[in-house]
Amino acid sequence: MYRTHTCGELNIASAGSEVTLCGWVQKSRDLGGMTFIDLRDRYGITQLVFNIDTDKKLCEEARKLGREYVIQASGKVVERSSKNLKIPTGEIEIAVSSLTVLNPSELPPFTIEDETDGGDELRMKYRYLDLRRPVLKQNIYLRHVIAREVRKYMDSLGFIEIETPVLINSTPEGARDFVVPSRLNPGKFYALPQSPQTFKQLLMAAGFDKYFQIVKCFRDEDLRADRQPEFTQIDCEMSFVEQEDILTTFEGMAKHLFREVKGINFTEQFRRLSYEEALNSYGTDKPDLRFDMKFTDITCIVKGKGFPVFDSAEYAGGITVSGCSEYTRRQLDELTEFVKRPQIGAKGLVYVRYGADGSLKSSADKFFSPCDIELWAKETKSSPGDLILILAGAKKKTLAALSELRLEMGRRLGQRNPDNYVPLWVVDFPLLEWDDETQRYYAMHHPFTSPKPEDMPFMDADPGKARANAYDLVINGIEIGGGSIRIHDSSVQKQMFRTLGFSEEEAASQFGFIIDAFRYGAPPHGGIAFGLDRLTAVFAGQDSIRDFIAFPKNNAGKDVMIDSPSVISPKQLDELMISVRK
Ligand code: AMO
Repeated sequence: MYRTHTCGELNIASAGSEVTLCGWVQKSRDLGGMTFIDLRDRYGITQLVFNIDTDKKLCEEARKLGREYVIQASGKVVERSSKNLKIPTGEIEIAVSSLTVLNPSELPPFTIEDETDGGDELRMKYRYLDLRRPVLKQNIYLRHVIAREVRKYMDSLGFIEIETPVLINSTPEGARDFVVPSRLNPGKFYALPQSPQTFKQLLMAAGFDKYFQIVKCFRDEDLRADRQPEFTQIDCEMSFVEQEDILTTFEGMAKHLFREVKGINFTEQFRRLSYEEALNSYGTDKPDLRFDMKFTDITCIVKGKGFPVFDSAEYAGGITVSGCSEYTRRQLDELTEFVKRPQIGAKGLVYVRYGADGSLKSSADKFFSPCDIELWAKETKSSPGDLILILAGAKKKTLAALSELRLEMGRRLGQRNPDNYVPLWVVDFPLLEWDDETQRYYAMHHPFTSPKPEDMPFMDADPGKARANAYDLVINGIEIGGGSIRIHDSSVQKQMFRTLGFSEEEAASQFGFIIDAFRYGAPPHGGIAFGLDRLTAVFAGQDSIRDFIAFPKNNAGKDVMIDSPSVISPKQLDELMISVRK
């Protein structure tokens, strides 16, 4: 046995006992006659002490230990004279009587501390060293705890975990597929699943009733802080359910996770917002509701006064920011620059400062009378001390820009505290989205999502008007999960493919298997999938999912540690009957 204890478990109650620990040398300090070493493992850090008066040879050996050496040390647990009450083992140290170097280490390329000096690229190249850092260990552990609690909850409700294949065909989830050539079938390719969508529906047709899987999904799309090319879903499906059943079951799962993982008890039902309401009030289908700052549509009252920006606008909307009427010219210029950034794309910003004394000062004073501005203040329900910020232009773009401005103001006011969680359901998504470029409808969720029964008549006459039985779970402005009630009737499914512009033959060749399955008695069914990486990051109060994945890809989709993707040998290419264009 290499060790009797871990580096995180000894405390004052263990004083006097003889122990053996193993771990990595975090740091060593030489104080004349004494050498101190912080020994680290997954569980914590324990201080080792070597005394030159007690054992000169051992003390000299200890002085030679470099950072990240792997050692085994035995000795007696003793009470420390200067205690460190910040760590659980901080009241004791080990007076070492024997030391073995299990493996020396070269000097690591960056410091293995929570606050490291290693840049992103270096940390990714030596990810195994990066993962030695306690912060990253905690992230990966948090992910494990969430996965464990998901499995407990799902099992308690009778869901069974079933694996689905990874080498499949294209799934219509909206991103590009990663493809894998087939050696046995030259010229043919597998696609990696963007999600197990069709398989989980087939499992319902197969009568499994309640399925879930913690599963890798693959999407070849542009990467962002909350997107990785391979990511993990908590994928779920149920039979004989309506939307309400799914929302109740999975709100239960979210509450279970909040309670068991974060110690937070949500007793009330999560808020629900329709897609339309979310867009009109917050400019996005994933609103951060940790603060309100709702939009007011003031298009009607600002037009016709000769201010070209407003007169030509399809939409003008404002937010009221409490307590910011004293914003300086410089701060307002900064905000104007913020909304004009290319990724936000507003042309400018109109503001009204509603002074504590009741005065109203606007950047558009030239075009509007005091009465006009008073009306804006009334309409936006503003009061003395507030700052009103207004954007105008094409509706969709302006709503999106105002949403970014709202988030920025929330951030400036400290209202986006990562320890405060506000989950909500966004429901009643449109079934389809029109794309001007390709002049066709796309499924907003995916083509297996059912229209609301009452909106079925729109499917022929005006498909853009049909709403879906689809829902998203949003936490603190991040889309954590999404799902829908599915079509289970082959004629409705065929109609859906028709609306999406598939010919009968195309639909049959790509999705014949699922249309067929619906002909053999598929039950009504629906489901949802949650992003495990995102959920973990949100639970840790972070935006980027990268440090919640043990071995993530960088922004160029590369794993710089194993140098993937890489070229393959001419022999492999030959076997696959593939030639690479220069
Ligand atoms: P959807 O495409 O909404 O639904 O995905 C579900 C959830 O997966 C997460 N997610 C991602 N996380 C990290 N990186 C990515 N590239 C990425 N893409 C998605 C998000 C998202 O909410 N088959 C349907 C689900 C269903 O209908 O049951 C689906 O995949 O958190």
